[in-house]
Formats: sequence, C-alpha cells, structure tokens
Amino acid sequence: MGISFQNVEHKYPTLKRKVFDIALKDINLNISEQGEFVAIVGKTGSGKSTLIQHMNALKIPTSGVVDIFGNKITPKKNKNPKLKNVRKRVGFVFQFPEYQLFEETVLKDVMFAPLNFGMKQDEAKKSALETLKLLHITNLQNKSPFNLSGGQMRKVAIAGILSYNPDIILLDEPTRGLDPKGQEEIMEIFYNIHKESNKTFVMITHDMNLVYKYATRVIVLNGSELTYDGDKYNLFKSGIYENNHLTKPDVINLIDYLNEKLNLNIDYDHYDLDSLLEYLKEVL
Ligand SMILES: Nc1ncnc2c1ncn2[C@@H]1O[C@H](COP(=O)(O)OP(=O)(O)O)[C@@H](O)[C@H]1O
Ligand SMILES: [Mg+2]
Repeated sequence: MGISFQNVEHKYPTLKRKVFDIALKDINLNISEQGEFVAIVGKTGSGKSTLIQHMNALKIPTSGVVDIFGNKITPKKNKNPKLKNVRKRVGFVFQFPEYQLFEETVLKDVMFAPLNFGMKQDEAKKSALETLKLLHITNLQNKSPFNLSGGQMRKVAIAGILSYNPDIILLDEPTRGLDPKGQEEIMEIFYNIHKESNKTFVMITHDMNLVYKYATRVIVLNGSELTYDGDKYNLFKSGIYENNHLTKPDVINLIDYLNEKLNLNIDYDHYDLDSLLEYLKEVL
C-alpha cells in the first residue's frame, strides 16, 4: 500500500499554445505507509512542490499513474476515484499553512477537518483537543487564530491536519519563515509523532541540517528528474550532492575537516553533532 508513482510526468501549460513547462519527467518511486521520514530536496524550480502535490492528488499526472492506497490517479480525470478517500489517509501541510486558518477559534479550526471527514462532534472535539495537547498549545483553544504569533499560527494549522490522523503526512517546507527555536520545536513534534506512531512523513526542505538530523531517506530532484533516492550518508559521501546543487550539512563539514586535519577516520553514519562532540572530548 502507501503511495507509488509509475512513469509519472507533469506538464504545465504556458501562455504559448502547445508549449508546456515540464515539471516532472518519468518519476518512479514508492513511499511506504509506515516508518519513513523522507526528505525531498533540490533547487528552486526542480519540481518538488509539484511532486508532493501528486502524493495526495492535488495534482493529476499528465501521463503515468500515481497509486495512493490503492486509488489509482491517472490523466483521465473523470475515471479517478473519490478524492476524499485519498485525502483522509494522506494529510498535506501546505507552504505557509497559516494562511488557511479561518474559524473563530483555534479549537473550531482544528475540529474542521475531522468533522468534514465524518467524525461526530464529540469525537472531533476529543481528537482536536488531543492534537492541541500534542503540540503544546491547549492554552490557545479559545483564542482567535488571527491573534496569534506566526509560530503559534503555524502550529494550529499543522494541528488541523494531524487531528484527523492521516497515515502519511506531507509537508512543503514546514519550517520556512520560522525562527530557529520555532523550527526546532516543530521538527521535534514531527519526529516524535514519527517515532511513537511510526507514521510516514514526507518533507520538502532546503535545510541540509534538517535532512541530516531527521531523514531516513532522501529524494533529490534536479531539472524535473529524480536523480537520487536513498541513504543520506551516501548522498553526502559521494559527489552526488554537488552535482545537484546541494550543500553539505554542518556536521559533515566538521567531520570532513577533522578527518583531514587530524588524520582521523570518522564515519558520517555514526555521529550527530552531540555524539560527535562527546567523541572528540574522548580522543582529543
Ligand atoms: N501552477 C503552475 N503553473 C505553471 N507552471 C508551474 C506551476 N507551478 C510550478 N510551475 C513550474 O513547474 C516547475 C517546477 O515547479 P515547482 O514544482 O514549484 O518546483 P519547486 O517546488 O522545486 O520550486 C517550475 O518550472 C515552475 O515554474
Ligand atoms: Mg516549492
């Protein structure tokens, strides 16, 4: 189950007749419904947002098939399955999701999707309150979503997706525009949910430090093509990251430097920043 792409292409029309902007070329991949934390990276315009929007049928392929939990999405729009089944299982947190808040109170906003997917009032309220607790914002429940700070609004918008308990959660640059503390808080929340409930997260980001810290798998797009799908360590070990206009995470830069200067042989896959510092205290 989960999501699979078979030879997926996406072309956008342009102002000129018969001229298209190809945003995805021949994409093949599988996302498991459990246990993955996938980072999608690549430079601006490489097709990342278009790719992730196919994962819950916000976009329809112009050729090929996207299979979402057995619902086959093809270019023949009128033959496609009911999208509600897809949307319920795959939640999408847009870029700047706070622009979509609209209810009078935070609680009502977070209850909106569960009610829309058929939960009873009591059930939706219970689920919304649990989600607010998970995000440490129970205290905001009776406030207007428009009187909150940027970071709080972002959390409320994310709560609105988590509240109906989708199996896979898609995130388009979820930390963009937040201060470092806000970024860390939100990433830790996603990571804890991923660890505790084994849910799959698929996240677009430009931040290689986040990729190194959280991702279990990295998908790289370059010029509308999938150029890498695999291990994060291998990505930064080989020249692949450079050929795809990516930078190295800080920890890897530090490891490279130490290995060269001190003639050490530290492996990328054994350390995060904290454990690397511990190791250095021991050996130096
Ligand atoms: N709604 C749209 N209409 C026309 N072209 C688009 C649209 N959205 C994206 N594109 C084009 O598709 C390509 C990929 O865009 P996008 O998926 O947004 O990439 P990324 O998220 O990696 O920046 C770009 O060339 C972009 O100009
Ligand atoms: Mg984008």
